[in-house]
Amino acid sequence: MPTLAGQVAIISGAAGDIGAAVARELSRRGADVALGDVLEAPQVDALGAEITALGRRWRYDRVDVTDAAAVAAWVQACERGLGTPTLIVPNAAVVTVRPLLELTPREWSRDLRINLDGAFHLAQAAAKRLVELGKPGRIVMVGSWAAERAHRRMTAYCASKGGLRMLTRCLALELAEHGILVNEVAPGYVNAGLSGKLMKDDPAAQARAAARVPIGRLMSADDVARQVAHLCEPGTDHLTGATLLMDGGLSLRGATDG
Ligand SMILES: NC(=O)c1ccc[n+]([C@@H]2O[C@H](COP(=O)([O-])OP(=O)(O)OC[C@H]3O[C@@H](n4cnc5c(N)ncnc54)[C@H](O)[C@@H]3O)[C@@H](O)[C@H]2O)c1
Repeated sequence: MPTLAGQVAIISGAAGDIGAAVARELSRRGADVALGDVLEAPQVDALGAEITALGRRWRYDRVDVTDAAAVAAWVQACERGLGTPTLIVPNAAVVTVRPLLELTPREWSRDLRINLDGAFHLAQAAAKRLVELGKPGRIVMVGSWAAERAHRRMTAYCASKGGLRMLTRCLALELAEHGILVNEVAPGYVNAGLSGKLMKDDPAAQARAAARVPIGRLMSADDVARQVAHLCEPGTDHLTGATLLMDGGLSLRGATDG
């Protein structure tokens, strides 16, 4: 029996590389999946076909996570279509790369609104429903090692992921009595998605990034997805408010490491 059979997952930013990998991994482990993203539906057709082939049900909703009412409506639609979401993965994010002194208020707000407000909207809407029904659940935030170390030209992103870390812990504290566990996976350099796009036309940048990682390699979206799924598994039912930092040792580097 697959370990997540009978569960319904809801994943924001699901048309992106890591969101799609999470959807595949949770489906493989038996969950039905509600996919949400700002992109047009055809962007997830191939992913949907893979999930169907795994014998799982899925739906796609176009939803902007910055809109709290739209996110609440998405959670309701997911419940009507697939069942109450019990595995919640706030994953949608953007990154603005701009020197601090040139960062506009609009760019600052965009990163904060999508990465932090968006995660709050989804986590809160889904948790409210679980509490109403007296059902347990798991929330797994997709954070970043950017919450560990200051990064040049990524101020808004780093601040959003730092905020996400504390949001994870506050949610974990208040939701524990309701049987809802809240944790965070914090990847380092992933050779896909946001940093994949930044490096995609530049093999030298990829090689430089890999060389900075103490274990000597970049991780894949599937590596991240496996850890998200791990935090949804029955075996991790004493873990809450935790950050699973999976950065290959990046954040261990000191100033003298170059
Ligand atoms: N790729 C990396 O190196 C890396 C490293 C650490 C953490 N992360 C985190 O992984 C998560 C997934 O990112 P990814 O790398 O797969 O990037 P991605 O760009 O492939 O996916 C992000 C998705 O979020 C969607 N999105 C953007 N704004 C949205 C909105 N307002 N509402 C709903 N959806 C929206 C995008 O359309 C996109 O499909 C993010 O939280 C990111 O911070 C990525």
